[in-house]
Amino acid sequence: MHSDDAARLSPGEPHRISAGLRTRFAEEFGRDPDGVWFAPGRANLNGEHVDFHGGRCLPMALAHGTYVAAAPRQDGLLRLRTLDPELDDGVQTLSLAAVAAVMSDDGAEAGEPATITDVHTIVPGQISGWTWYVAGTLWALARVGEEAPELAVPEDFGADLLICSTLPIGGGLSSSAALECSAMLAFVALATPLGAANRGTALDAALDDELRARLAAACMRAEVEVVGAGTGGLDQTVSLRGRAGHVVSLDCRDFTVERLPMDGLLAEHAFLAIDTRQAHWLGDGQFDDRRADSEAAMRLLGVDRLRDLLPEHPEPGDVDAALARFDTLVGGDELEGCDELTGCAEALEGRSTAACRRRLRHALTEMLRSEQLDRILTDEELEPTTAAAEVGRILTAGHASMRDDAEVSFPAADALVGTVSEVGALGARLIGGGFGGSVLALVPRDREDAVIGAAARVCQEQGFTAPRFLHVEPSAPARVVG
Ligand code: GLA
Repeated sequence: MHSDDAARLSPGEPHRISAGLRTRFAEEFGRDPDGVWFAPGRANLNGEHVDFHGGRCLPMALAHGTYVAAAPRQDGLLRLRTLDPELDDGVQTLSLAAVAAVMSDDGAEAGEPATITDVHTIVPGQISGWTWYVAGTLWALARVGEEAPELAVPEDFGADLLICSTLPIGGGLSSSAALECSAMLAFVALATPLGAANRGTALDAALDDELRARLAAACMRAEVEVVGAGTGGLDQTVSLRGRAGHVVSLDCRDFTVERLPMDGLLAEHAFLAIDTRQAHWLGDGQFDDRRADSEAAMRLLGVDRLRDLLPEHPEPGDVDAALARFDTLVGGDELEGCDELTGCAEALEGRSTAACRRRLRHALTEMLRSEQLDRILTDEELEPTTAAAEVGRILTAGHASMRDDAEVSFPAADALVGTVSEVGALGARLIGGGFGGSVLALVPRDREDAVIGAAARVCQEQGFTAPRFLHVEPSAPARVVG
């Protein structure tokens, strides 16, 4: 056994995980669950911080994800527990008192019994804690059901849920979306006419791409409106609409997807995710702050989304032209390093002009890289080795942009990107929202062990937390496990 084996996070065997979860569910809730549902996390090749600007994203669904065992209740209550040791606090029951306490920031009075009421009273707003991702998902499904009878949720619907995950929580691999999407499938199965008409694994076939797109939009709504995090829909889309062996090429202007086969490229190469174990949390404000900078630039430029600044098939000159327009509008020639410029203060709402320009440049170059990648991955004439080299180059360019323009990187991620490239990775970048999370590297299969060893070493030498490694295999989307 290699010394680094312990640091490799396995996705596990779904049926074994499901069987274990069923047993624990029976112990916890005194009855069997009706089923177990799974939703994957994701790794994104490119397209970070651009989904909410209508850009293209290139994510893959992982084999790692979140499992939910559940059984329905008829009293409008959600009772839920996670087996994740970092989050587990026993069974949580959602009640109006708990919502009110969090929203008013008072905290519940010690010893005061929670007022039990039903989850349909949940109000959108700023509430935190992992249970709200689940409650928000049910809330959002109920909203969908108001328009679509096959997805209607009865007034008295509630559920017991037991949750476990093979994803590192807060590891930048979309553990939040995996939680939302797995809970969403459980709720569709247990609460709706569609679920009643398609028992067990029949639900997988019943959920066509259009329905899955609708459910992804609902999960996104849960995160934005109930949890209060500024997600742009990338994570939920790939979790519900990914495909084994494929990268999803997602056009966030209208959420249409193409699925691009990766078998050629992955014959000799592999994607490796390196979890830095610096947990990121989108609710903490930094993500929203970066997004607000780019939205200020968008307002200044007079578009509804930054993607509209570029033509259908953008070239580097188009990015330069959009940046030049920004410069003309703010009336400054030398913005770099100058945070004091106050030109067009109104549109920028007092935000630093130079920072807004950097966010703009990240978004535009990231969108350009996505279009380039899409072209590379759809070019059937391209030799896999050439394609891999190009993908690697774009990964590393994406990291530089995350570091210098989006400014969402951090020392461990920068060190890892540099180190893995020195020992044979074709490229690497920070993925996800940033401020923590994971680095994705493209490595020749015969260099994977060397890359893992070097990554572990650099973290030790530089005093960072020992990283963990996930082999990234583009995998199937959210589904019924059984
Ligand atoms: C988070 C959000 C996504 C996306 C990424 C950054 O994962 O949930 O919508 O914005 O960050 O690309």
